[in-house]
Amino acid sequence: MDTNTTKSPMAPLELGFNIDHIINIRQARFTPYPDLIETVKAVEAAGADAITLHLREDRRHIQDDDVYKVRKHCNTRMNLELAATDEMTKIACDVQPDDCCVVPEKREELTTEGGLDVITHFDRIKKMTQTLNQQNIKVSLFIEPSIEHIKRVSDIGAPVIELHTGTYANATGDAQKVELERIQYASEFASEQGIQVNAGHGLDNLNTTAIASIPQIQELNIGHYLVARSVFVGIEQSIKEMKQIMLDARV
Ligand code: PXP
Repeated sequence: MDTNTTKSPMAPLELGFNIDHIINIRQARFTPYPDLIETVKAVEAAGADAITLHLREDRRHIQDDDVYKVRKHCNTRMNLELAATDEMTKIACDVQPDDCCVVPEKREELTTEGGLDVITHFDRIKKMTQTLNQQNIKVSLFIEPSIEHIKRVSDIGAPVIELHTGTYANATGDAQKVELERIQYASEFASEQGIQVNAGHGLDNLNTTAIASIPQIQELNIGHYLVARSVFVGIEQSIKEMKQIMLDARV
């Protein structure tokens, strides 16, 4: 009997769990709980493939100390999100995460709004990418699904992009369809250039299937929805449900 017939024809899709929103709760009262290490262990035990965390310049959730603790206790993959600054480059070189996702950052924003402008900030991002490449840290650039921006990624030397799905997630009806097509086209284009494609932002139980169905996408980074869902069903169930949505989308 051919046991391969039931296998998914597409490459597996990994889930990076963004822990920032759990740490937001801790920082709201400066309590020791929810405990960071307990969080990492619970998320990994539930089947997440990577721990994603964003050390923001204003340190509103993740603290410097947390980054070192995650490095020590993470048994999957550590994906550190950070702005393109000298301070963050230095911290990344010291911490040695497996992956670094370079994101734009504005102090007044609620969350990461918009992708990195790799055209305007080409030199700065290239310099940072090269420094991290030399440390064998896999660099991902968080960008809009724009061909013009993807064209600059190879010149920068980043092996990975994370496509910003925020506009898609916030749109409805035809506007959402148009944005999905942009993400599909950008994924194909980047993959043809030999760039690994990840995606994330604003993904939830209703809008993830269409993104997870894009065959070039290799990883989704999700935080807010998973933490919100875990209030009702627990973190393990929340992750398992999302992994199932992702798996079903790949068949
Ligand atoms: N990917 C990146 C680069 C992000 O900055 C964020 C938000 O911190 C996410 C993914 C996850 O977004 P959300 O919390 O909306 O799932």
